[in-house]
Amino acid sequence: MLCLKVPTDAAWADEALTNVDALLVDHAHCEMKAAANALSLAARDQGDIETAVVLADLAREEIDHFQRVLAELSARAAALGPPPVDAYAADLRRAPHDLPHDPKIGPKVDRFLVAALIEARSCERFKLLARACAARDVYAALGSFWEELFAAEAGHYRSFVELAVRAAGGDREAVAARLDRLADREAAIVEGLGRRAHGRRRTTIHG
Ligand SMILES: [Fe+2]
Ligand SMILES: [Fe+2]
Repeated sequence: MLCLKVPTDAAWADEALTNVDALLVDHAHCEMKAAANALSLAARDQGDIETAVVLADLAREEIDHFQRVLAELSARAAALGPPPVDAYAADLRRAPHDLPHDPKIGPKVDRFLVAALIEARSCERFKLLARACAARDVYAALGSFWEELFAAEAGHYRSFVELAVRAAGGDREAVAARLDRLADREAAIVEGLGRRAHGRRRTTIHG
């Protein structure tokens, strides 16, 4: 799906749905962090108004997602609670440092591509959750919500890739090559997390 090199393993969605409250707490934090990250990227890029406009729109959508997950938590009388550890995002943010230097790829391009990969993986997992809800005939409203988010996060993935191309001065080929390398690292991180979760139920979006 999108640029991802490995699919999420088949057990993940069923494991995640064993504790919907925990999953929604993590989901809420993911949306909040996505909004904050978009605004933080806009703040770094004071010279490029077009990029700031795209990021502000994206942040607005993430805030909308955050509010809708909060409404779901509220309806379930569940608390937001602290953010679960997101080893996936932390490892992925470090991944560009391990890649060879490319003069065409600055830190800004890497930050956009890391954000694109996080969107792509979230997108894949929302689709898996929507499918699992439909297959088990449970949580119909949540399933529809996740189906809708699947499309929204796919759009965010494309926006971040385009922002990376813009930040690389239009060098689409260099950006595609960098994304390919980062996608290799992302795949290794996902497989590593899957192996380490052996025997433990994963109830986070990136777990
Ligand atoms: Fe979102
Ligand atoms: Fe997103």
